[in-house]
Amino acid sequence: MYTDFEQLRADCMNCKKCRLGDTRTNLVFGVGNPNAKIMFIGEGPGEQEDLQGEPFVGRSGQLLDKMLAAISLSRNENIYIANMVKCRPPQNRDPKPDEQDLCIQWLREQVRIIRPKMIVCLGRVAACRLIDPDFKVTKQHGEFIERNGVLMMGTFHPAALLRNPNNKPAAFDDFLKIREKLQELDPDYKPE
Ligand code: URA
Repeated sequence: MYTDFEQLRADCMNCKKCRLGDTRTNLVFGVGNPNAKIMFIGEGPGEQEDLQGEPFVGRSGQLLDKMLAAISLSRNENIYIANMVKCRPPQNRDPKPDEQDLCIQWLREQVRIIRPKMIVCLGRVAACRLIDPDFKVTKQHGEFIERNGVLMMGTFHPAALLRNPNNKPAAFDDFLKIREKLQELDPDYKPE
């Protein structure tokens, strides 16, 4: 168990626990404020993330940043963003269960140190692993459940919204719910 976020990052950066460590360009640890009250968890790095070492920097990341900005959240200020796996799965395939099992240990340590009040799962992979193995994004998106004092919600993955823009209004509603709940949970969060 870690107490120091920088030590956690340093050890994670050398991780070779699974096969994804052999093919990565960069390990993508996470980005944002380790004192954030809210975390967003994606699936795994894509091509751009692997090249740049930061989560959600490709096209889906640009959409995510826009949706976050609409509720006064930003990776440079008041949130932390991480993924279920920290290294890019080849050809952007879904991370395999054994890869997730090994990598989730790093995520758990991140969550333990950050101690968010809310965790938002971006897409099916994170929601199935962190909320409910049968999670159906189209049915259960936007629903809050509490786990060990942390509010959890699953919503659409931004890449899925790029493929199917019809779901953008529903995703935006989820972000408005996040805004409302976060105002109750975090006195420092004062959206415009
Ligand atoms: N998709 C994800 O799930 N995570 C990223 O970091 C980028 C794309």
